[in-house]
Amino acid sequence: MMITMMKSYRGKLHLPMLAGVVCALAFLVLLYNERISFLSSTSFMRFNTCAARRAARDATDGGRAKIDDMEEEDKLEYDADICDITEGRWVYNRSIKPLYSDRSCPYLDRQVSCVKNGRPDSDYRYWQWQPDECSLPRFDPNRALRKLKGKRMLFVGDSLQRGQWQSFVCLVESIIPKDQKSMKRGRVHSVFRAKEYNATIEFYWAPFLVESNSDIRIVGDPRKRILKVDSIAKHAKNWLGVDFLLFNTYVWWMSGLKINSLWGSFANGEEGYEELDAPVAYRLGLKTWANWVDSTIDPNKTRVFFTTMSPTHMRPVEWNNKDGIKCSNETRPVKKRGHWGSGSDKRIMKVVGEVIGKMKVPITLLNVTQLSEYRVDAHTKVYTETGGKLLTDEQKADPLHHADCIHWCLPGVPDTWNQIFLAHL
Ligand SMILES: *[C@@H]1O[C@H](CO)[C@@H](O)[C@H](O)[C@H]1NC(C)=O
Ligand SMILES: *[C@@H]1O[C@H](CO)[C@@H](O)[C@H](O)[C@H]1NC(C)=O
Ligand SMILES: *[C@@H]1O[C@H](CO)[C@@H](O)[C@H](O)[C@H]1NC(C)=O
Ligand SMILES: *[C@@H]1O[C@H](CO)[C@@H](O)[C@H](O)[C@H]1NC(C)=O
Ligand SMILES: *[C@@H]1O[C@H](CO)[C@@H](O)[C@H](O)[C@H]1NC(C)=O
Repeated sequence: MMITMMKSYRGKLHLPMLAGVVCALAFLVLLYNERISFLSSTSFMRFNTCAARRAARDATDGGRAKIDDMEEEDKLEYDADICDITEGRWVYNRSIKPLYSDRSCPYLDRQVSCVKNGRPDSDYRYWQWQPDECSLPRFDPNRALRKLKGKRMLFVGDSLQRGQWQSFVCLVESIIPKDQKSMKRGRVHSVFRAKEYNATIEFYWAPFLVESNSDIRIVGDPRKRILKVDSIAKHAKNWLGVDFLLFNTYVWWMSGLKINSLWGSFANGEEGYEELDAPVAYRLGLKTWANWVDSTIDPNKTRVFFTTMSPTHMRPVEWNNKDGIKCSNETRPVKKRGHWGSGSDKRIMKVVGEVIGKMKVPITLLNVTQLSEYRVDAHTKVYTETGGKLLTDEQKADPLHHADCIHWCLPGVPDTWNQIFLAHL
């Protein structure tokens, strides 16, 4: 249905189609840029829990009268299993004080440091995610570090995952004295260490999770990328002995082209690959990952999380801004309930649900797609860098080619992802 809609949309409108092609190219260019990160809005919410609310509702036979009386109990627990965080709305709250800024946190990549890069509007930092049925506890850095004491946390995935990792590091680092923390950045593996807690918060670059010829040296032309959809060991051997493992993979599969999929070794010749549609190749790749988790991870020692698709916002007509250029002019979230654009592929979501649903090892899904879908305002847009350089004024004036509507400013939306993550830890 999604696909059909996109096709007819493209078929009917010629100008938008051209714009679509240009956007797709710009999208691919952005993807080359291995240095990705993001995000922007911390929620500080009350501690009402769904469980307590349900209990209250039950206790009053469907009435809501008792909810206020239950404030005290509400504060005691937050039941992440019961609260559905996907249904809710963004609430503007100018009193929010983000726990860090791109000037205070020394570990943020330039790519996501929107304020430093000249982003003039600031409203995007003052929205908090309010689920319908409960309130998320605010991100408490002390609680996060207590959970991490003597432990390793590893984020694995692409540049959006790197953004979530940097967000997590920045959310906790300000309460750690200077001589008690360190950061070692590597091309593939980066480690933030909180010494007095004997804890690490790490990132491992594997944009497809499975192996490809474009993992470390990025192959710019998507047609020349080849994925070994059945191979993961080379990366996965670096994911052992970790207490909290968090994965993602999505946007790299979405070049719009078929995925060159190879079985077995590259040495057999790169000619022997098969071209598969993205959801088909994605399913094979994700199953390879699932098999590795099920055969390797001891759920008593390691907890495994998976962050769902991070939406891209390339087509403003989808949120009724006919004059927009990608997300470049957006300063407010989309209001329309359930807004869902073509930047979040429902076929991929279905694969994630099916593959993870059949796994032996329990996976905690951080289903952030819907809440992020609303946030057309929170991408880095032209306040970013390309190839290690800030955009020039000329490039900034040309958002059609240069606005990044994939990555998120930090502080920003990935802070909310981590708020949800911490609530589930
Ligand atoms: C707005 O944020 C402040 C600071 O976090 C908080 O005390 C207040 O309760 C929030 N207001 C609403 C309506 O949630
Ligand atoms: C620090 O944590 C690691 C696990 O990440 C553990 O193996 C080691 O024993 C811990 N060291 C101390 C001194 O607690
Ligand atoms: C995990 O712990 C439970 C209870 O302690 C035990 O029954 C189970 O066999 C353990 N699972 C594994 C995979 O070791
Ligand atoms: C949209 O953004 C461009 C620059 O990115 C700016 O020149 C233009 O005035 C903006 N248009 C509106 C309607 O805000
Ligand atoms: C994530 O949430 C959306 C609704 O926001 C839902 O449609 C989707 O099925 C969920 N994904 C999974 C894998 O459960």
